[in-house]
Amino acid sequence: MSSMDIEVIKNEIDSAIQNINSALALEAFKVKYLGRKGIIAQLTGLIPTLSLDKRVTYGQQVNNLKNKLLSIIDEKQKKLNIPTLQPNGQTKAIDIDLPGVAQDLGRLHPITQVMDEICTIFVRMGFSVVEGPEIETEYNNFTGLNIPLEHPSRDVFDTFYLKLGVRSQEPGVKASQLPTPNSKLLLRSHTSPVQIRVMKSRKPPLAVVVPGRVYRPDATDASHSFMFHQVEGFMVDKDIKFSDLKGVLEILAKNIFGQDIKMRFRPHFFPFTEPSAEVDISCIICKGKGCSVCGRKGWLEILGSGMIHPNVFKNVGYDPKKYTGFAFGMGVERIAMLKYGIDDIRLFFENDLRFLKQF
Ligand code: PHE
Repeated sequence: MSSMDIEVIKNEIDSAIQNINSALALEAFKVKYLGRKGIIAQLTGLIPTLSLDKRVTYGQQVNNLKNKLLSIIDEKQKKLNIPTLQPNGQTKAIDIDLPGVAQDLGRLHPITQVMDEICTIFVRMGFSVVEGPEIETEYNNFTGLNIPLEHPSRDVFDTFYLKLGVRSQEPGVKASQLPTPNSKLLLRSHTSPVQIRVMKSRKPPLAVVVPGRVYRPDATDASHSFMFHQVEGFMVDKDIKFSDLKGVLEILAKNIFGQDIKMRFRPHFFPFTEPSAEVDISCIICKGKGCSVCGRKGWLEILGSGMIHPNVFKNVGYDPKKYTGFAFGMGVERIAMLKYGIDDIRLFFENDLRFLKQF
């Protein structure tokens, strides 16, 4: 093909474009010249057949022709008011070669992860998971659990009372769960009130774990927060023994902290269990030798526990002569802090991604 031909094509183009008055006609024009098998493609295909000295000038001519086509098509498009259609049918240009915007995958909060881990260990042992409300009656939080009105252990919890009335219409609330008309509402200070709820609505045998938030009027510091999480657990049946409690807690501790962990039960007092014990694990930092984390004791407290008090059984309508049971309650933040070596509880609640992304 000679430069003559290119001139011919140029003239052809100039007259053809004059007669184009629709988007359809313009599209056909575009395909004819710029399509995959169009004239420009044919002209370009000839380049390798030319002698070396002609290739450069010819190539430039073809290129000029192509640029001319592009600009007259563009002009016509504007004139006819046709939006530039993209392959996806949209009218705005999209650079399909741009790297995609990476979506940061979310993850569970470390507290949720540890809480799930604890619950899963108990579910494998046959426990079921039950949740209770964070707004609780004074009765379920204290009185039903054998914590009398004047008991000093109420003082530590005494701040977060609500001025609301009891909502008896709440779905799922049975008449038997309703407090006396003048029972107050509060933010629960532990998950133990769910013992009362479950025992009032079900009969033994029971094996239940209760994950959830609790609130206490503690001043915030590295190891205290006015809100934290607990996992409560309890088992009730004929002939449940303290050794059953020891057995399930040992499985828990070994699963979370490793097979070498040691446990000890220290006598303690809770109004809703008798006998009661606090449970320590051997310090995971110094392995029991004594360090600053365990205050040189070699042991770290992880939970409170005991055999459910006969008065609690009476309060829920169980015969204490027929049934026995154990209960325990642990702080999830504390366990997570020990597990991951975190030294400040506030880190869990600051939502700093630099912290959260490590889990
Ligand atoms: N509810 C207690 C607390 O929050 C823990 C506990 C639960 C103790 C069950 C004994 C039995 O401190």
